[in-house]
Amino acid sequence: LSDLVPLSTLKTLLVEALSLIERAKDLSSLEQLRVRFLGKKSLISLSLKKLKELSLEERKSTGAELHSIRSSVQDALEEKKKALKTGSSSLLLDWDYHCPVYGEEATFHPLTLTMQRLEDIFFQWGCVMVDGPQIESDYYNFTALNIPENHPSRTMHDTFYIQDRVLRTHTSSVQIHAMREWGAPLRAIAMGPTYRCDSDATHSPMFHQLEALWVDKDLNFANLKGVLQELLELFFERKVNMRLRRSFFPFTEPSAEVDIACVLCEGQGCRTCKQTGWLEILGCGMVHPSVLEHGHIDPACYQGFAFGVGVERLAMLKYGLSDLRLFYENDPRFLRQFFR
Ligand code: PHE
Repeated sequence: LSDLVPLSTLKTLLVEALSLIERAKDLSSLEQLRVRFLGKKSLISLSLKKLKELSLEERKSTGAELHSIRSSVQDALEEKKKALKTGSSSLLLDWDYHCPVYGEEATFHPLTLTMQRLEDIFFQWGCVMVDGPQIESDYYNFTALNIPENHPSRTMHDTFYIQDRVLRTHTSSVQIHAMREWGAPLRAIAMGPTYRCDSDATHSPMFHQLEALWVDKDLNFANLKGVLQELLELFFERKVNMRLRRSFFPFTEPSAEVDIACVLCEGQGCRTCKQTGWLEILGCGMVHPSVLEHGHIDPACYQGFAFGVGVERLAMLKYGLSDLRLFYENDPRFLRQFFR
C-alpha cells in the first residue's frame, strides 16, 4: 500500500473532505462530495481494495486507520445531510482559524495576525493568557460580574441562550476564571470569540474580544490610562490621540469608554468616524470590589483595572476596512492580502 497512497495523504484528504462537507450548500453538492471521497474510484475505496495484498500484520494496523478515515467522512456526510434537510446550521462554535489552506500559498487570517500582534505586546508586559468556555454559565457571564438577574444591563447584551447556559457575550466572563486560577497580583489577558444577537456591516453575531485584567496593590486609574496609551501606540505603530469618556459597566467603577482620534482621517472627519474625528474603541474601568470578591481576592488589599476591546474593530482600523463581514466570507482574494 505504501507505494500507492501513503496514510499521511489520506489523512490530509480527510481534513479537506471534512472542510468541504461542512461548507456544502445543498444536497446535490453533498452527493458530489460523497462520490468524490467515498465512491468506487475514490482514493479511500481504492486503498481499501488494496488492503488484501498486504501481510496480515500490516493489514490490521493500516486497515483500522483506513476504516476510521472512511467512517469519519461517512459521519460528516450524514450529519451535514441532516442539517441541510432541517435547515439548521452549525453555530460556528468551533470556527478554526488555524485550519490549513489548500492550493494557494497560505497566509494567516487577518484576525489571527491581529491577535498575534496583541499577544506579543501583552507578553512583553509579563501577562498570562487565560481561557474560559464559550458556552458559559450565567454566573460567570453575568452574576459574578455584578449583573444580577433582572438587572436592566442584561438586555444590553442581546444574549444567545442554550438551555441554562449562555454563549458568552463578552470575554469579561474570563475575569473570574483568571482570578480564581491565578490569584493576586495578576496580569492576565483573554482573547477569543464572543456572541451577541446582532448583525450588520459593523456587527457580527460572533466576534472576538481581547480582555485585559491587572490586579495589584496601589493600582489606580492613571496606571490604566498609561497602559492603554502604550498599547494603542504599539498596536498602531504611531502616535495615538486618546480621550476617555465617563461611562457605566456594572463590573467596573469608575468606568470609561476610550475614543481615539480617527486613524483614517487624522481627526479631520470621514465616513468611518461619522464626521466626528473620533472613534470609540474600548470599555474600561477599575474592577468593582464585589467582582474581586467573586474572584476570591480581598478588595481591602488589592485593586484591579480591566478593559475589553473588539479584535475585529482594531483589525478594521489597522487595515482600513469598512465591512466586518469580509472577515468571515473566506474569499481568498481578500485573505491573501494580509502578511503582517
Ligand atoms: N465587557 C465590556 C463589553 O463587552 C467591556 C469592558 C471590559 C468594560 C472590561 C470594562 C472592563 O463591552
